[in-house]
Amino acid sequence: MLTSVNSGVYTKSHISSSRRDSRTQLCTMVEPISKIDRRGRVRVQILNLKSVVSKERSVNMCKAVLIRRWVKLEMVQETMDNFWSNMLIKITQSINVLRLVQMETLLTYTSVSLCGPLFVKFGISGKDLHKREKPVLPEAMGLVAGVILCLFIRQPSVLLCTMAGLWIGALDDIIDLRWRYKIIGSALAYLPLYQNLTTVVIFGRLIYLGPLYHVYMLLWCIWCGNAINIHAGINGLEVGQTIVMALGLLPIVDDTATLLSYICVAMGLFALNYYPSMVFVGDSWCYMSGMFFVSIAQHETETLAFFMLPQIVNTLLSLPELTGYCECPRHRMPKYDAENDVLVASGKGTLMNIVLKITGPIHEKKLLWTLLAIQVVCVFIGYTFKS
Ligand code: UD1
Ligand code: MG
Repeated sequence: MLTSVNSGVYTKSHISSSRRDSRTQLCTMVEPISKIDRRGRVRVQILNLKSVVSKERSVNMCKAVLIRRWVKLEMVQETMDNFWSNMLIKITQSINVLRLVQMETLLTYTSVSLCGPLFVKFGISGKDLHKREKPVLPEAMGLVAGVILCLFIRQPSVLLCTMAGLWIGALDDIIDLRWRYKIIGSALAYLPLYQNLTTVVIFGRLIYLGPLYHVYMLLWCIWCGNAINIHAGINGLEVGQTIVMALGLLPIVDDTATLLSYICVAMGLFALNYYPSMVFVGDSWCYMSGMFFVSIAQHETETLAFFMLPQIVNTLLSLPELTGYCECPRHRMPKYDAENDVLVASGKGTLMNIVLKITGPIHEKKLLWTLLAIQVVCVFIGYTFKS
């Protein structure tokens, strides 16, 4: 297996954790085959792998070299300065690619429109509680959108994680999965992301976490989908929040093409889930998106955390109810004032209720755009800390 691999990654932490002589040896045996990217990484070719393996004294280091395709140099700080100019280039590139990937939007819109009535027929439906007539709408449309997205995911690890999230969410939509199974499932979904490289970049510094890295990533896998799922309850919010986060990640992640496919699929779904909703996206969309974000932004989780500040606040506000300290009803969404067609704070611990307390009763659509605007602000806070 070792001889079939011919490239690898080398990070600052590996440099410092290895002895000086082995560092020199490794550096002379790799040859840069790309320019240094904005994260201070350069793609390398290992010139003579057998000699790397036999001469290296640190087994861990050899493994780390073999599992990845990049060398990370000690340039983190310097390359951060180019962040904003790189972002502009990436946005221009994305606009060009976007022209080609609109197909995902059309495919999602058509498939969801066609599958909706079928789902209602099989009883997978729910009442839109914030409308006077309480119309019955198809549920779990995230399942249809998720299957389409999986056709466009290029990286195997991202595909496996996304599929795991989709399974957990779909089962939750159909048979109301118990919390413990959702947690176990999310933890198992981390397996495709397992790697020997256990460093994270926090405030521009590479931090070596060791075995704690796996605990950190497991928590991300468990939390991310759930956090999206509990920041929900008004038309368009489940998909809307994920679109903002995905757009925010565009200039940051490597696999822009897959992320654009995600955005296009989400747009198709948003068109049908936006007020007044024709379909509900269900837990399948929330759990799938959570796993998708963790897998595609595995090396950018600190920035993702900034983007997800509203979800973090919402989770913290929800803790007393989620842990059973206070009563937790089936729905913690705002109350509906049918006479004035507005939403009123329900007193439950959610960010939505806090916003409604500040703004006073407002229309569902207005509440959606307020919450999305907060999410956009958090994306820019994330950029500020990154640059
Ligand atoms: C989570 C929240 C719950 C919130 C619900 C709304 C926690 C612990 N759980 O539960 O408080 O009420 O999401 O999605 O915080 N619905 C609407 N309008 C919408 C979206 C959903 O009326 O725009 C209703 C529909 O009846 C739909 C149901 O919510 O059938 C879907 O709820 P579901 O996603 O199954 O709820 P949970 O994820 O379990
Ligand atoms: Mg839900």
